[in-house]
Amino acid sequence: MSTILVTGGAGFIGSNYVRLLLRQQSAVRLLNVDSLTYAGNLENLTEVESDPRYSFVKADITDAAAVESIQEPIDEIVHFAAESHVDRSIEDAATFLRTNVLGTQVLLDFARRRGVKRFVHVSTDEVYGSLGPSDPAFSETTPIAPNSPYASSKAASDLLVRAAFHTHGMPVLITRCSNNYGPYQFPEKLIPLMIANAMEGKPLPVYGDGLNVRDWIQVEDHCRAVDLVRMTGRVGEVYNVGGRSERPNIEVVRTILRTLGHGDELIRYVKDRLGHDRRYAIDDRKIRNELGFTTLHNFEEGLAATVAWYGQNRAWWERVRSGDYRGYYERMYGSRLGNS
Ligand code: NAD
Ligand code: DAU
Repeated sequence: MSTILVTGGAGFIGSNYVRLLLRQQSAVRLLNVDSLTYAGNLENLTEVESDPRYSFVKADITDAAAVESIQEPIDEIVHFAAESHVDRSIEDAATFLRTNVLGTQVLLDFARRRGVKRFVHVSTDEVYGSLGPSDPAFSETTPIAPNSPYASSKAASDLLVRAAFHTHGMPVLITRCSNNYGPYQFPEKLIPLMIANAMEGKPLPVYGDGLNVRDWIQVEDHCRAVDLVRMTGRVGEVYNVGGRSERPNIEVVRTILRTLGHGDELIRYVKDRLGHDRRYAIDDRKIRNELGFTTLHNFEEGLAATVAWYGQNRAWWERVRSGDYRGYYERMYGSRLGNS
């Protein structure tokens, strides 16, 4: 039995990872450490909250004392916690530096003191910067050239993880994945925002000319890749993860609209994001050839299933949009912990 400390397990990808692991691996215990920012929602985890292999600690990873106070012996760490939204980083970069950079160092220090056997750092393809239309895809040896405060903070955290390997010989691994989509994604990101707006008959804001390209991967495929790296990756290595599904944004938006029976009348071209990266594409041959990774979801089917999920779980995203979900921790755990 391995005890895995998962950070950011109440967010989009982290909660999908927690649910997937508890479903697929019997010999694990998961300790979810999350400070429940606007993006953290324990309603994402109602399915597992009574599982005896799962526990939750509300803690901020930038608070070294709070992290150090974790008593359980920890075998492995899978580090998802981050400020993750590019537009927010353009408005205010400070939180991104605190959580993504300092928070990662706090965890590395904790892991070293505790003799943690694997530390998987979940990073992003955005650290590589932006591609032109015919540039080759990002490989693990592409130079780091981040363009947004978010991407720069993730690149800084990657470098701290690299330093922990070279300086202290820590057993770290880094994954760099492309754009995720799927259930429980916060409706500020392109796909869930467009689905929710279309369902409510609201305008769909498309930045610039709508021709920026992203490579889309279904979130469970990303989670399976992270777990494969945790179990079989070579320490000190970086593994790119991609969906082999490059699409211009406007095509994704139109597919969502057609799936919901709309024409283009809700589309609004709006002012472009500052410093908007034009194209991301991933060369994922390393994880496929070395670790045998394959994706299970095709983009068009995965997107249709995601649209269906948001239709069936309207109450979830309506609560998220209204902010009502934020009292969930106090309602569920507050009285038990004496801080309600
Ligand atoms: P998210 O914003 O949905 O969730 C982030 C989680 O981290 C939330 O639960 C939040 O409460 C928690 N958190 C934030 N600051 C914290 C702090 N100081 N202490 C403890 N917990 C804190 O993010 P996501 O989209 O699920 O992304 C998860 C990770 O995957 C991030 O590291 C992100 O950079 C990376 N990533 C995301 C994508 C994507 O497409 N979403 C793609 C590649 C990599
Ligand atoms: O590539 C991985 C990254 O993907 C992750 O590291 C980030 O955490 C994640 O947020 C995501 O970053 P993007 O900036 O690519 O995702 P976002 O959903 O914000 O935007 C996707 C594309 O859609 C991008 O070109 C901007 C555009 N967009 C986005 C929004 C929110 C719009 O046109 N309109 C919108 O309203």
